Amino acid sequence: PPAGVSVHPVAGRIGAEIRGIRLAPDLPEATRAFIRAAWLKYKVVFFRGQDHLDDARQEALVTLFGDQAVPHPTARIKDGTAYVLELDSRHGGRANSWHTDVTFVDAYPQASILRGVVIPEAGGDTVWANTHTAYTDLSPELRELVDRLWAVHSNEYDYAARKPEADAESLRRYHEVFTSTVYETEHPVVHVHPETGERHLLLGHFVKRLVGLPTSDGQHLFNLLQSHVTRLENTVRWRWQPGDVAVWDNRATQHYAVDDYGQAHRVVRRVTVDGSVPVATDG
Ligand code: SIN
Repeated sequence: PPAGVSVHPVAGRIGAEIRGIRLAPDLPEATRAFIRAAWLKYKVVFFRGQDHLDDARQEALVTLFGDQAVPHPTARIKDGTAYVLELDSRHGGRANSWHTDVTFVDAYPQASILRGVVIPEAGGDTVWANTHTAYTDLSPELRELVDRLWAVHSNEYDYAARKPEADAESLRRYHEVFTSTVYETEHPVVHVHPETGERHLLLGHFVKRLVGLPTSDGQHLFNLLQSHVTRLENTVRWRWQPGDVAVWDNRATQHYAVDDYGQAHRVVRRVTVDGSVPVATDG
């Protein structure tokens, strides 16, 4: 590592904290390469104490993890910014179901950069899962089956069914923000990571159905595969402090924001980095 920089895995299969870096777009090339390699290896990397960042400086970090930022396709972008999606618990910003960001478009983001702004005294952690080890945990027979499957992803997924606690008001708000325009696309259930060559399950809550399977069979298979993704041994959980930054490889992970803080206030801000169309195992 560059002088003064160290990497500390947070869990066995995914997630590491990088210490000794003050995040900025103009870091020396060796430091940039080091961060990028750790990000690809650990799939989510954490940086504490990045209190110097504001929205514009957060947006500028995009070039560490890709080419350009991409705004959320439907949600309102935070005033005064070009790309920042603010998730505020007081306005329905509680992402407590397992997903990969924005998989309902063809070329979904390759990275998400999330900054902790207001963090509850207790609770409000985020959990990430490794979608590569979820795949390699499957038996060879099951892998052969899912290698050939495709799934329909849409932002108009059944939010109420996935979040049984959602009340009418939160449903209304959800649809206003996230489904004003409906998107739908098909992705392979297993995709080959363009940088590491690893195979990953590509699922999460935007999956509407599995192509070619009766709805009920598809739902069972989806649940079975998701249970491998979200198994606790396959995850890392981060206890936020204000000023923390988490950056995940959105091609290699799913995540879940734990909604256990009641009426306490939580605000995080996300910037996503433009990605490419996922490639199936047969190219
Ligand atoms: C997200 O789903 O991108 C946000 C996660 C969080 O609020 O911790």
